[in-house]
Amino acid sequence: MKTVVKISGSIFDEVGAEERIKELASVFEKYVQDGNSLAIVVGGGKRSRELIELGRKLGATEDVLDEIGIDITRINAKLLISCIKDSYPQVITDLREADIAWSVKKIPVAGGLSPGHSTNAVAALLAEHLKADLFINSTKAGGVYDRDPKKYPDARFMERVSIEELKKIIKGSSEAGTYELLDEVSIGIIQRSKIRTLVTGTGTAEIKKALYGENVGTMIVFERI
Ligand code: UTP
Repeated sequence: MKTVVKISGSIFDEVGAEERIKELASVFEKYVQDGNSLAIVVGGGKRSRELIELGRKLGATEDVLDEIGIDITRINAKLLISCIKDSYPQVITDLREADIAWSVKKIPVAGGLSPGHSTNAVAALLAEHLKADLFINSTKAGGVYDRDPKKYPDARFMERVSIEELKKIIKGSSEAGTYELLDEVSIGIIQRSKIRTLVTGTGTAEIKKALYGENVGTMIVFERI
């Protein structure tokens, strides 16, 4: 299997981050030892949000704020690289570098790439570029609900969601401005290349299950359901 995994930057913020990151790293190492190819994209988490907020108050323009966010994602990527034995030693800053990493049997790890989008979009682009069989997007939300679960306690968890339905859910929630799922850029990339995408939680056990094809999270499908 060729798989791209997006890891939320939140794991670098947590108490016990060291153990969590080590646990994840060993799951990734084992997955590759089992004969699979893996590429990882790391998010910015709380640190990027805090520094972006500070920069905004100091008068930085949005593109500069994006660069600050990218810098933090790359720091997180460096931290992860440090504890994965088979990782490519440098943070990937261009999609083609991931080809080089795979050609020498190493795991490419990226953060952000360019201003104007998220690390989810980077992960979708990487999955597209590497013709991945699976894109695992691990998020705090844990999967897709028909409505924002934080606002609506009766929100229904969806094991499968069509891309059209997902677009509607995201559009409805972005107006409310709270429900953080995949952004529109990522959805566009997933749709144009019909990338098999699974939205899961951030727990190590859940990510492991997702890698090995167990039933977790929400699968995005391209036909009507
Ligand atoms: P993230 O996409 O990681 O945001 O990038 P996030 O919501 O904190 O993600 P999680 O929760 O860790 O998964 C942080 C910021 O970096 C900039 C954006 O400003 C984004 O909000 N960024 C990131 C870019 O401009 N381009 C990229 O390719 C990636």
